[in-house]
Amino acid sequence: MTYPKHEIAIIGCGYLGAVLATVFAEQGNNVIGLDVDQGKVEKLNQGIAPFFEPEFDELIAAGISAGNLKFTTDPSAISTSDLVFICVGTPQLEGSSAADMRQIWSAIELIAPHLHSDALVVGRSTVPVGTAKEIETRLQKLTSTNSTIAWNPEFLREGFAVRDTRTPDRIVIGVQNSDDEQKLKSVYAPQLSKDIPLLVVDLATAELVKVSANAYLATKISFINAMSEIADKTGADVVALADAIGLDPRIGRKFLGAGVGFGGGCLPKDIRAFIHRAGELGLSSSLQFLKEVDEINLRQRDRVFSIAKDLLNGSVKGKRITVLGAAFKPDSDDVRDSPALDIAVRLNSEGANVVVHDPKALENAAKRFPVLTYEGDLEKALLNAELVLHLTEWMQYREIDPVSAKKLVRTPQMIDGRNMLNLEAYQAAGWKIVGLGRQPK
Ligand SMILES: NC(=O)c1ccc[n+]([C@@H]2O[C@H](COP(=O)([O-])OP(=O)(O)OC[C@H]3O[C@@H](n4cnc5c(N)ncnc54)[C@H](O)[C@@H]3O)[C@@H](O)[C@H]2O)c1
Repeated sequence: MTYPKHEIAIIGCGYLGAVLATVFAEQGNNVIGLDVDQGKVEKLNQGIAPFFEPEFDELIAAGISAGNLKFTTDPSAISTSDLVFICVGTPQLEGSSAADMRQIWSAIELIAPHLHSDALVVGRSTVPVGTAKEIETRLQKLTSTNSTIAWNPEFLREGFAVRDTRTPDRIVIGVQNSDDEQKLKSVYAPQLSKDIPLLVVDLATAELVKVSANAYLATKISFINAMSEIADKTGADVVALADAIGLDPRIGRKFLGAGVGFGGGCLPKDIRAFIHRAGELGLSSSLQFLKEVDEINLRQRDRVFSIAKDLLNGSVKGKRITVLGAAFKPDSDDVRDSPALDIAVRLNSEGANVVVHDPKALENAAKRFPVLTYEGDLEKALLNAELVLHLTEWMQYREIDPVSAKKLVRTPQMIDGRNMLNLEAYQAAGWKIVGLGRQPK
């Protein structure tokens, strides 16, 4: 099947933008990716993925060799693009819970002089509600083109980014007129032909869909983590509890994995920015509950820390501790706000001798926290450990044989911070193992 081809520009080629660019190119469009990071652009142009994401390596190499995918730091390269997707970062502002919007505003200033007269600017980053209108106002001041703005939130999950971009659960477009709606429908024709639901909404709804989806997901995780605190005190098993309530179709089992909580470059900063925005709108009380969600989440890190202390007789000082996992989630090398690293750093600052293992994220982790010791070989990482913490649920860790692993460590003690290991098998092999809200039977 052939689909209409478009001239597309992607502004900001990180986890979101680079994957979106390659998928649009795979669909036959001419795509130019613009980024301010020269090193990243050079790698991308050589067909090398600047981060780990399953399937992405092959896809980027294919796009570059096909010739319809290019990356640049030169903003004038977007002058022929009909659709310009804004995919820059919106991290948490230092010293505040608000979103740091500097990448958005600098991107708008960068592209404004080069926009094609009828270009449609499409926001894809996660932003506080009201941003699209603000971009429109700024663009009107900066350019004399007829360019308009639409919003098209991104729902990809790192670790599944390629799959989620090719076949998302749904496509949401916030538009102001039917021409823009048609342009976006045409770009997404390959997805729409697979019956992926399309929701056409206004700008504010499109912006809110993303942050409210993340707020809901965060709430679900913190809910089950609160239940796991109760389970610990009462001897109940939070995994069995999640299975039982998850069978209720009104609740569902997904996102009921109790453990060390959420992290990464999205959920934590998105819920904080949402709380902040509600405050600006005079609606603090509407999102008061999200503060509790955030607190419950951060409390899980304290909980693991204090269990570690208890297992090591009150002090971690001088103790050899192995942390399994550095990425904030498996199948990713993203270490932004990683619970595993947060705990590793705390243990280190209390004098523990911490060794961190991760299959993919050690380079990023070492850049962020050079103070920690990193080991890429799992057996070496486990050697002589007095305590092992399982904090990122890579498949590799679920496949550890507790009998062989016991021979490597000095003291067979494990905290399963992701409730994914077979507690009974560990116990049978002679380990002392604790989960969060569940214990071996
Ligand atoms: N990563 C995800 O899983 C995900 C999922 C959904 C939504 N989002 C949202 O997407 C946005 C991007 O996230 P990300 O994870 O890709 O961030 P990222 O930090 O990986 O990428 C941002 C990129 O933008 C570039 N950039 C910064 N300023 C620029 C400018 N003025 N012009 C051009 N490029 C510029 C940076 O160099 C970087 O490569 C955020 O708003 C995030 O919340 C991310």
